[in-house]
Amino acid sequence: MKQSTPTIFLGLFLVLPLAFGDDIVTDSAFLFHICSSFDNYTAHTPYASNLNQALDQLASNAPPSGFGLSSVGKDNLQNQVNGLALCRGDVSSADCKNCVATASQEIRERCPYGKGAAIWYDFCVLKYSNTKFFGKIDNRNKFYMWNLEESDDPAAFNEQVKRLLTSLSEKVEATRNLYVIGDVEIKASEKLYGLVQCTRDLPSGGCKKCLEIAIGELPSCCDAKIGGRVVGGSCNFRYELYPIVDAQK
Ligand SMILES: *[C@@H]1O[C@H](CO)[C@@H](O)[C@H](O)[C@H]1NC(C)=O
Repeated sequence: MKQSTPTIFLGLFLVLPLAFGDDIVTDSAFLFHICSSFDNYTAHTPYASNLNQALDQLASNAPPSGFGLSSVGKDNLQNQVNGLALCRGDVSSADCKNCVATASQEIRERCPYGKGAAIWYDFCVLKYSNTKFFGKIDNRNKFYMWNLEESDDPAAFNEQVKRLLTSLSEKVEATRNLYVIGDVEIKASEKLYGLVQCTRDLPSGGCKKCLEIAIGELPSCCDAKIGGRVVGGSCNFRYELYPIVDAQK
């Protein structure tokens, strides 16, 4: 069963950075999902209705700021559902709402009756569980994506990627929404673009810590690869040789 694997290593063929590469990616196709709990609930039980409520709450409380938590069934730990939704830092409220709503539907289809699950899109991540996970760095739910193409100067390129992502992660704690983008010129007319983001339930210092761990996984994820992502339940980064979000164009 997939859910017992702590880390999922996933290779996807990323859209190659051709002319309109970035525009082909829509928010409708999910990137990955994990059914994280072996335990199941049954229909028409308190857990089922708490899950409905928790997901509904996320769809309304995440879009305004791009981040939301929900906790339903506080009086009975056995039936408690905790949920989290985070939209990418540049995504509008309307797109955030659509993404969270789509994610809520899709996750039920992908993990029917699962007591815990997570699903990722370009525009948002949605996660729920019967355990209390708020405020803790999630090292369980994680996957990698990379571009199959490799740099012709891997040692130097790896170093540039690490340096950019580290510099972004050093700025992130000072931001309001734990989201930082940046770019750096790596040779004449070639730029490297980066993005880092964390969920806002983490305690002070938690975002930087989470990203440090993720950046430490660069050699296993993305060695020499010209684009890549480490995507977790609490933080993620992405780097590409093309603009990732509109603000980088
Ligand atoms: C939950 O459901 C899955 C899929 O039907 C099944 O494989 C698994 O054994 C169930 N878990 C428990 C604890 O019954």
